[in-house]
Amino acid sequence: MSHTLSQLRKFVSPEIIFGAGCRHNVANYASTFGARKVLVVSDPGVVAAGWVADVEASLQAQNIDYCLYTDVSPNPRVEEVMLGAEIYRANACNVIVAIGGGSPMDCAKGIGIAVAHGRSILEFEGVDTIRVPSPPLILIPTTAGTSADVSQFVIISNQQERMKFSIVSKAVVPDVSLIDPETTLSMDPFLSACTGIDALVHAIEAFVSTGSGPLTDTHALEAMRLINGNLVQMIATPNDIALREKIMLGSMQAGLAFSNAILGAVHAMSHSLGGFLDLPHGMCNAALVEHVVAFNYSAAPERFSMVAQTLGIDVRGLNHNQIRQRLVEHLVTFKKSVGFHETLKLHGVSSSDIPFLSRHAMEDPCILTNPRESSQRDVEVVYGEAL
Ligand SMILES: [Fe+2]
Repeated sequence: MSHTLSQLRKFVSPEIIFGAGCRHNVANYASTFGARKVLVVSDPGVVAAGWVADVEASLQAQNIDYCLYTDVSPNPRVEEVMLGAEIYRANACNVIVAIGGGSPMDCAKGIGIAVAHGRSILEFEGVDTIRVPSPPLILIPTTAGTSADVSQFVIISNQQERMKFSIVSKAVVPDVSLIDPETTLSMDPFLSACTGIDALVHAIEAFVSTGSGPLTDTHALEAMRLINGNLVQMIATPNDIALREKIMLGSMQAGLAFSNAILGAVHAMSHSLGGFLDLPHGMCNAALVEHVVAFNYSAAPERFSMVAQTLGIDVRGLNHNQIRQRLVEHLVTFKKSVGFHETLKLHGVSSSDIPFLSRHAMEDPCILTNPRESSQRDVEVVYGEAL
């Protein structure tokens, strides 16, 4: 894959404030948007960790009225988005703040779309379907992985159909992202592993994506370096805030890369899997990543060789077959070192589920930028290898 100047590339990003403690400034940003009443979106775990109270304290200090919607589940659902939209309207809110992992943030993005259009979120599946600007949106991530706070993606679970659907539009990039590494102190080792693997996969998929380019490559490579070099240690020493900052920065850079270069087959297949089994997104990625990399390698060998080198593999004197093998081994070792051993079978997937999973993976927008063009049959084979 070569990049010439004739390829047009764009780069969108929210206003980003990065640094320990920046969550306490949320009211300043809300007031910039003329906040009358703020809808605060979160989940019970984030409330218990005390991060929602910090947002409330900031709003109260500036006499900004707000109401809370803190019941969002992991893998946020259509009904939860629509209930949030109802609460927003009933309370005459005019700004949305979400604090949490990918689930509250995606739910908040969905609420913005639903209230702006006055329609069901189900109608916006796909790329560039947004017609009306959403209300001002301020996101505060409390995990280092999903990067919903910088991305053009919204992923919502449709439990009726047992699938997730994606909305991709620059209209869902939030206005402000307050990235505060202190909030990741509440992540347990499992959540740190899930979100860290997700971020590493974002960086790899963005770097080999057919939508990659100079605007995203540097972010993707730096993200790989930061996450590969610090995740294991961060999980081992959870109170080291300097390591938290490195992983949070890596996650943010992976987010900027994948938001603009888009992703690939790991995410297409992982969205399908997560909708089917309601499993954590990072765990789905972990079960698939080395199988997809092995499948994709031949379509972008120079790019994958750079991935391997960035992950610390000495490629001197190796041919591409050997580099591919080393890269696959490195990914498996890295996964194990943060606690992932499971295959899909251990998660309850059987070979009879593969046609259903593959059909939905082929409908996911992420499959379109995978470096190797993939048929449904290809996707079935890769799922089979991950069983
Ligand atoms: Fe992801």
